[in-house]
Amino acid sequence: MSARPGESDAGPVGIAGLGAAGTALAAKLAAAGVPLVLYARTTARAEALATSLGATAAGELEELGAVSTVWLAVSDRAIGSVAAEIASRVKRPKAAVALHASGFYDETPLAPLADAGWKTGGAHPLVSLPPGSQDVHALDSAWFALCGDPRARRRARELIACIGGHELALVGGADAKRRYHAAASLLAGGLASLFDVVEEELDGAVKSPRVARAAFAALAGSVLDNLATRGAAASMTGPVVRGDVEVLRGQLELMGPHARRLYEDLLGRVVRLALERGSLDAAQAQAIWALLDE
Ligand SMILES: NC(=O)c1ccc[n+]([C@@H]2O[C@H](COP(=O)([O-])OP(=O)(O)OC[C@H]3O[C@@H](n4cnc5c(N)ncnc54)[C@H](OP(=O)(O)O)[C@@H]3O)[C@@H](O)[C@H]2O)c1
Repeated sequence: MSARPGESDAGPVGIAGLGAAGTALAAKLAAAGVPLVLYARTTARAEALATSLGATAAGELEELGAVSTVWLAVSDRAIGSVAAEIASRVKRPKAAVALHASGFYDETPLAPLADAGWKTGGAHPLVSLPPGSQDVHALDSAWFALCGDPRARRRARELIACIGGHELALVGGADAKRRYHAAASLLAGGLASLFDVVEEELDGAVKSPRVARAAFAALAGSVLDNLATRGAAASMTGPVVRGDVEVLRGQLELMGPHARRLYEDLLGRVVRLALERGSLDAAQAQAIWALLDE
């Protein structure tokens, strides 16, 4: 089976759980022409989304027997119980595959389905989908980490190809997947928290917090663009990498205690990267360390 973006021969897909991830997956698959059966424990939710996407709503779990792939997009802690419910109530379709969307787990929580003869695996979209997000482009060109049975991974690859996504290959089994997910959470949560501290620092210094938010998000975007092509060391900018101790001292004096603590914690890594890059010499690094000890 081969598929190009916007052209599906991946057969009907069931999505169970229509929160942030399930809704985004459903929207993207529907746009790619994949026939969908949508299930949520609140039937009205499935019906509303199905109507807007031209999909079928499953009033009962049993209706997932009409699809060859079920993608569970329920909360991580519910994967096992929903899998058990599907295993006991849904007549296993031909060539049945069950995937979950969790980044942390391998296929183990889908064991009730594996025991019932389904091929099981995980397909985790490496994207940030806040609750209630209606961004229809959230999964554009998204990366997915896969795990599980070879047939389940093959099916996941077909679906990902349908929606123009990419596979991020992991090596090393369940531990690798957990490390991958911890790194992703650190980045997504860390960036958002850092942005919150930055907005706190801007309070009272900018005319319009709304405009400042857009401007600083654009700054973050420019850093991310550099990171994607050049990596961290080559992307560093600012007074530390220029060895400008006086500017750094002035900045630290003005910062609130929270921002200052965070900045100081990160400076160790900044100095190391700047030394590696050769934009800072040992004497300048010493001067920065001394400043932090003041
Ligand atoms: N959000 C992200 O950024 C993101 C990114 C990648 C992967 N994921 C993964 O996607 C999955 C879903 O996460 P989410 O962010 O979409 O969470 P979410 O917005 O909280 O949605 C979870 C959905 O699971 C349903 N659910 C919970 N317990 C259930 C149960 N016992 N039976 C049936 N349905 C149940 C909820 O139904 P109700 O609406 O009825 O409560 C809700 O619709 C998780 O595995 C998560 O790790 C999330």
